[in-house]
Amino acid sequence: MSTPKVIRWGILATGGIAQTFSKDLLLDPKTRGVTSIQHTIVAAASSSGKERAVQFLKEVGAPSTARAYGSYEELVKDPEIDVVYVSTPHSHHYQNTMLCLEAGKNALVEKAFTVNAAQAKKLAEKAKEKNLFLMEAVWTRYFPLSYYVRDIITSGKLGNIQLVSSDNSISLDPEETMADGKHRMVNPDLAGGALLDCGIYALTWLFQTVYTTLPPAERKAPSVTSALKIYEPTGAADELSSMLLVFPRPGNKDVHAIATTSIRYSSDPLGDLSGGPACRVHGDKGEIQIFPPLYRPTKTRLILRDGTVEDKEWPQPGPGKGSGWFNGFGDGIQPEGEGQGMFWEADEVAYALIEGRKESPLLSWEESVVIMEVMDEVRKQGGLRFPEKIETTDFPVAL
Ligand SMILES: NC(=O)c1ccc[n+]([C@@H]2O[C@H](COP(=O)([O-])OP(=O)(O)OC[C@H]3O[C@@H](n4cnc5c(N)ncnc54)[C@H](OP(=O)(O)O)[C@@H]3O)[C@@H](O)[C@H]2O)c1
Repeated sequence: MSTPKVIRWGILATGGIAQTFSKDLLLDPKTRGVTSIQHTIVAAASSSGKERAVQFLKEVGAPSTARAYGSYEELVKDPEIDVVYVSTPHSHHYQNTMLCLEAGKNALVEKAFTVNAAQAKKLAEKAKEKNLFLMEAVWTRYFPLSYYVRDIITSGKLGNIQLVSSDNSISLDPEETMADGKHRMVNPDLAGGALLDCGIYALTWLFQTVYTTLPPAERKAPSVTSALKIYEPTGAADELSSMLLVFPRPGNKDVHAIATTSIRYSSDPLGDLSGGPACRVHGDKGEIQIFPPLYRPTKTRLILRDGTVEDKEWPQPGPGKGSGWFNGFGDGIQPEGEGQGMFWEADEVAYALIEGRKESPLLSWEESVVIMEVMDEVRKQGGLRFPEKIETTDFPVAL
């Protein structure tokens, strides 16, 4: 057997998702049947100081040789890093990713990719100019479950797609849990609100079922009609957004698609799937349902008009029970030995780097830009604009 190719990661920021991603990254890929690649962490940086980076590397179980930096500027100069994982709040993605690209580093950037489409375009242009890999980290797209759903659609089993509905909502009780308005979910300075944080997943399901499933030349951006409710305590973040997208298709085959997102109610109020599916893709021959949460779904149901009903469970591989290994995010710590599922997107990055690809066909730069354009339009229709310093395409800007 040939030696696995090792991909060397640098972790930019040490918050909640950086921890979850890094733990998944360091899992033995054989637990998910992957033998040709391996991931390692060679460095991490914290804007709050080197000590935090040292602590972070210990917390995630990085190799003892991994270097800790007290600034992002130092991290991107590290010659041993193949790719940087940008995991700051989305307000900072544009500045931090441009820093990586200018320094000649490939980058995987947390969702939402940027604050607006203009920034997303600039990053894609810079990656092209520098011949670097760049991808928005919408991990769900690389789940085996997502491959299955896209295959069901492209196989024609559902017939012509008519309507997709999708909800990604979480009840946060923001006045109680984020009373000072500083948390990134509600803070305008951090591009807070439901839309960019949770709505991106509701939109992901519309796009990956209606848009990604077409050959690139046939993809057309949707029209957008929307309503947005402002979170009053901070005045410039949304607490609820509803979107109706119409994807144009020739021959009177337009697809209607509805995405909703909120930080006040949950797609799965009891956490036991009793609320039913969070995404339904309706074709004229049947439907496929995806159960919540839409960012990490583990259950699907296929219902066809010929009488077929097929339920599937999609476990998240990991070292297993008895391993003493836990991963997850916030309240969502997974059962012992179960991975979070972020390793599949990391594997996609690894394959791209090995093959010399600069983007992923499952979320191209063009598609990320179109999705940002949808969110721009929703914010425009709802009168939501963030502070200029985070909307700007100027670089560098100190935040
Ligand atoms: N894929 C997913 O499932 C998922 C889940 C949650 C979040 N996310 C995305 O990941 C990003 C980070 O979310 P998170 O939940 O990890 O946030 P978080 O826990 O608040 O961590 C963000 C980190 O960014 C750094 N940072 C730099 N400037 C900052 C500033 N002005 N304010 C706050 N933090 C700052 C800090 O790290 P240092 O001090 O080390 O620099 C901080 O720990 C967001 O874009 C979010 O949408 C993705």
